[in-house]
Amino acid sequence: MATDNRTDIADIAELNYGGRTTKLPVVRGSEGEAGLDIAKLRALTGLVTLDPGYGNTGACRSAVTFIDGERGILRYRGYPIEQLAQKSTFLEVAWLLVHGELPTEGQLEAFTDRVTRHTLLHEKFRSFFDALPHDAHPMPTCAAAVGALATWYQGPETDAAVDDAVVRLIAKMPTIAAWSYKHSLGQPFVYPRNDLGYAANFLKMMFGVPAEDFVPDPVVAKALDLLLVLHADHEQNCSTSTVRMVGSSRANLFASIGAGISALWGPLHGGANQEVIEMLEQIAHEDGNADVFLTKCKDRGDTTRLMGFGHRVYKAYDPRAAILKKTCGEVLARRGVSNRLLDIAMRLEEVALRDEYFVKRNLYPNVDFYSGVIYQAIGIPVNMFTAMFVMGRLPGWIAQWMEMRKDPDTRIGRPRQIYTGATEREYVPIQVRG
Ligand code: CMC
Repeated sequence: MATDNRTDIADIAELNYGGRTTKLPVVRGSEGEAGLDIAKLRALTGLVTLDPGYGNTGACRSAVTFIDGERGILRYRGYPIEQLAQKSTFLEVAWLLVHGELPTEGQLEAFTDRVTRHTLLHEKFRSFFDALPHDAHPMPTCAAAVGALATWYQGPETDAAVDDAVVRLIAKMPTIAAWSYKHSLGQPFVYPRNDLGYAANFLKMMFGVPAEDFVPDPVVAKALDLLLVLHADHEQNCSTSTVRMVGSSRANLFASIGAGISALWGPLHGGANQEVIEMLEQIAHEDGNADVFLTKCKDRGDTTRLMGFGHRVYKAYDPRAAILKKTCGEVLARRGVSNRLLDIAMRLEEVALRDEYFVKRNLYPNVDFYSGVIYQAIGIPVNMFTAMFVMGRLPGWIAQWMEMRKDPDTRIGRPRQIYTGATEREYVPIQVRG
């Protein structure tokens, strides 16, 4: 068996099929979760597995992020998200995810310095944006721009080159995101500044104009940094699995991350934060009545979903949503903004959490339910919400890509299928088709 030499085999399961008993190893992770190792299943039995949406499929061993969806637990490299949210910064968390340990003071200083000094894009990159329509959505712009970075850094993939690519990506992502937005507005690009922190620098590039000074609000920069921390990794979600899948073909880091950004754009994944605000605005516009809207979400004949609710993994309150709900109130109060949308969101949550439909299906608010309200309160336009998610998720994608490339068990991602099409038939010449 492929896993005979692994030390995490905890048990043996027996599969009875076709009059034969096949023994399959059961592996156990460090938090006790068990998985049936089916790497030899087809060779031994002729069977493949069928698992649409991969809800029961572990695609890899990973030491990056642990989630216990039943108990609402999220930890990066063992550290609870609540502690990181309270005590850490985004660049510290990025280092933790990529390198596996919290940085020393010296490591963090050196990393911050490198990130700060790689924020500029090649001047020729400006014309990349010119080639796009004036109203281009920032997400496909970001995906294309990150893919295009690969054309500037084409050398062989040594450890040092990957390390440089990691720094370049983390450094340039806010510049790319902010410039994607500036392009969609038709405003001049604002260059990064080395005297600002990571989040403040992004705010400056987003909201600054050459005609006047823009001083980023430290409260807003702190809230943004927290949002980035909360989004930094989430184990094998759709976009991360995409990054791993693309990287498994030995495509380089820029190409793999570009693909991850595209996967994140979808409304069932990272695009949900934009959909949440649009949903809240629609409810506010109609009559602010949460109950009427919830009735539509529960109707099987209606495709409406309560956006920002439900999660493939969490069957309890998403711990990130709990942190954000609290932060929402604080940020809005500090900014002196009263927000009708937050009131509607809280009312929706209150009603949904008492409603049998949502209770029975374990549907709770996820990270996107409150993130949009904060983004809106700090002035981020709706079409940039998912790009904010990109900046946050980047270190997680990178850490997972690096782990995948170093894992001796990695093979090119290539699932099987159960074919349901026509069986063999003779070609029919076009003259006699009818
Ligand atoms: N509103 C109403 N019903 C829902 C919702 C919702 N938001 N989410 C799930 N359900 C129902 C669904 O109709 C199904 O009901 P039934 O058993 O009667 O057929 C049941 O709950 C299970 O849903 P599912 O679609 O099989 O669950 P899934 O694990 O495939 O989907 C999900 C997970 C996140 C795509 C889904 O809950 C959803 O569409 N939520 C809204 C979109 C959203 O907020 N996405 C952000 C996810 S968190 C950030 C991220 O990771 O990107």
